[in-house]
Amino acid sequence: MISRELQRAREYEAEYGAAIHPEQRPVFHLSPRCGWMNDPNGFGIYQGKYHMFYQYYPYASHWDSMHWGHAVSSDLLHWEYLPCALAPDTDPDREGCFSGSAFPLPDGRHLLMYTGVSREQQPGGQFREIQAQNIAVGDGTDYQKYEGNPVLTAADLPEGGSRFDFRDPKIFPLSDGRLCCTIGNRPADDSGQILLYLSEDGFRWKYWKVLAANRNRFGRMWECPDFFPLDGKWVLLTSPQDMLPQGFEYHNGNGTLCLTGSFDEAEGNFTEETDQAIDYGIDFYAPQTVLTPDGRRVMIGWLQNWDACAIRRPESVWAGQMSLPRELSLRNGRLYQQPLRELASLRRDEKEFHDIPVSGQVRLPGIQGRAVEMEIRVRPADPAAVFHKFAVRFAEDGQFHTAFSFRPHEGILKADRKFSGSRRAIVHQRRCLVEHRDGALTIRLILDRFSAECFVGEGEQVMSMALYTDTAADGISFFADGDAVMDLKFARLGD
Ligand code: FRU
Repeated sequence: MISRELQRAREYEAEYGAAIHPEQRPVFHLSPRCGWMNDPNGFGIYQGKYHMFYQYYPYASHWDSMHWGHAVSSDLLHWEYLPCALAPDTDPDREGCFSGSAFPLPDGRHLLMYTGVSREQQPGGQFREIQAQNIAVGDGTDYQKYEGNPVLTAADLPEGGSRFDFRDPKIFPLSDGRLCCTIGNRPADDSGQILLYLSEDGFRWKYWKVLAANRNRFGRMWECPDFFPLDGKWVLLTSPQDMLPQGFEYHNGNGTLCLTGSFDEAEGNFTEETDQAIDYGIDFYAPQTVLTPDGRRVMIGWLQNWDACAIRRPESVWAGQMSLPRELSLRNGRLYQQPLRELASLRRDEKEFHDIPVSGQVRLPGIQGRAVEMEIRVRPADPAAVFHKFAVRFAEDGQFHTAFSFRPHEGILKADRKFSGSRRAIVHQRRCLVEHRDGALTIRLILDRFSAECFVGEGEQVMSMALYTDTAADGISFFADGDAVMDLKFARLGD
């Protein structure tokens, strides 16, 4: 049975999604079928395909009553839209179907676990939204909400846990076959914690313990946890709200956090070892990962920051996009990210340049475009006179450009969209400390019309940002203050 709310969303997106010309969208990054997208949800494999659901408001390009949009892919680069999967159409999710995850059941059905938001009258008479966990089960296209919803409520919280901030269940299997799920929650100290719940069947869940407590170290509430084994350790990814800056590692507002450590599966104890940001750019949030059939841990995040949403004009027909899928690895306690290797299948017009002197501004023949990949190896022309600054500028026309710039004397790589055409007073620049060898640095830059993602070195850092410069601005140039030399591998990315 399809509810009136879901039917309406499906009819609306079929009509308005089709009216968006493919050239108005990214080439290989997933964007909403129409309207608004935030977090990736239910990212996983089901019946031989990757499924990606997303926080979705089809009717406008701003956040509102949350639905789950849906798309499938065979390679994580070409996506096909499926009909809207969930609408807020039952009492436990009347105010929204918030983030969650998916898991294929042994009987072949696809289980979705998500946060349902509903209104609750408070002792003073006013209403507040409360959050509880819900289940829907389906066949990969149509999902039925479980009659036993909600399956986890305030009654399942540890003492002091807030029912107003209890969200984003992410299911993962334990090695003994039981299902476990991580959920973000706000404890009495007003910061964040990640809770663990256990289930035998995916429907009946029991509180287990606190996996990790923020204790006001990294922002406050922790959203959208994902917890998985990687290269002999365990990794907890989460997205803290209300962060305070810490050096060049963490910044004000919504951020991302990667904790690594060891996990005792029998006891549910996570012993933290290291912490770092996941992405050092402006726009990356709420990532989820999948384990590919060949054993790669691949992560996709929302390529947007809550505090910077105003970069998108209100009249846009879509808003929000997903990041590039990134392959994760751990080396010496550090998270490394590399663009999904299948990206190579999109390379066209490959070109290579070697030992190009850059002093002042330089353009190279055939180097332009808004959906491109560039591997840039820069170094000083004279090791005794290291240049002051090197920059690659893109989405460039006579008026606008966006850039990554590198200042070796300060060890800083800067993402800069100040001149991208934005007319809003939001963050447009972000700096990141990078390791280089006396001015020698390699970056791999991936542009896809409305985004730029810069992988530093071997992937030890990534800086991502959205940009909405008119796509006719497709110039690319290189710049050095001082004398630099660079090698460039270039490809256009597309079909
Ligand atoms: C994170 C988030 C989640 C929540 C969802 C609502 O971006 O705030 O915690 O489930 O967005 O759309």
